[in-house]
Amino acid sequence: MDVTEDTLHGAAERAKFREMKEGTAEDWAIIGADYMQFAAGLPDRVLAHLRLLDGDFGGFPICRLEHSLQTATRAHRDGRDEAYVVMALLHDIGDTLGTFNHPEVAASIIKPFVSEEVHWICQNHGHFQGYYYFHYLGMDQNSREQFRDNPSFDACAEFCEKYDQAAFDPAYRSESLEFFEPMVRRVMARPINSLYAKVAEAKAA
Ligand SMILES: [Fe+2]
Ligand SMILES: [Fe+2]
Repeated sequence: MDVTEDTLHGAAERAKFREMKEGTAEDWAIIGADYMQFAAGLPDRVLAHLRLLDGDFGGFPICRLEHSLQTATRAHRDGRDEAYVVMALLHDIGDTLGTFNHPEVAASIIKPFVSEEVHWICQNHGHFQGYYYFHYLGMDQNSREQFRDNPSFDACAEFCEKYDQAAFDPAYRSESLEFFEPMVRRVMARPINSLYAKVAEAKAA
């Protein structure tokens, strides 16, 4: 796809309606075409936002970007598939805008591209990660127990035990963000679970 001045700033053609109920097929053909170009830029926007975590330590031994890279690297070296590794890379991307609910932000971003279980792990990792520190902050260390009967309980506990809580080692040699970029692009190339998946598929065909 050519990236021209027009695609960077929106299509030159614009819909003509002032209220959505005035919309026509021509209007929506214009908007639909523009949407696909915008959607193609999603990996770039996500990667740019992930870079905001660079140098953000919050008192931790390593910054949030390095923690993200280390979590993803540990998952990758343990043989996890790309969707899982991308989830590991992005699991804390919500720290900036979702300071009080960061797991849900990451989970929403990856939801169209991953299995239900990988989404569930991301969405609930905060409760499971708390097993390692909530008691130091006057919180319930066993918060994760409310999910004990969920079929993804063990998978989420494993994510935190093997990759997330383990990824604060300043001496660990993580892969770079550039290493993971192609995986992010591949995983986000096509939504498998989205209200708009059918539009994306029709336009991509
Ligand atoms: Fe987290
Ligand atoms: Fe984390």
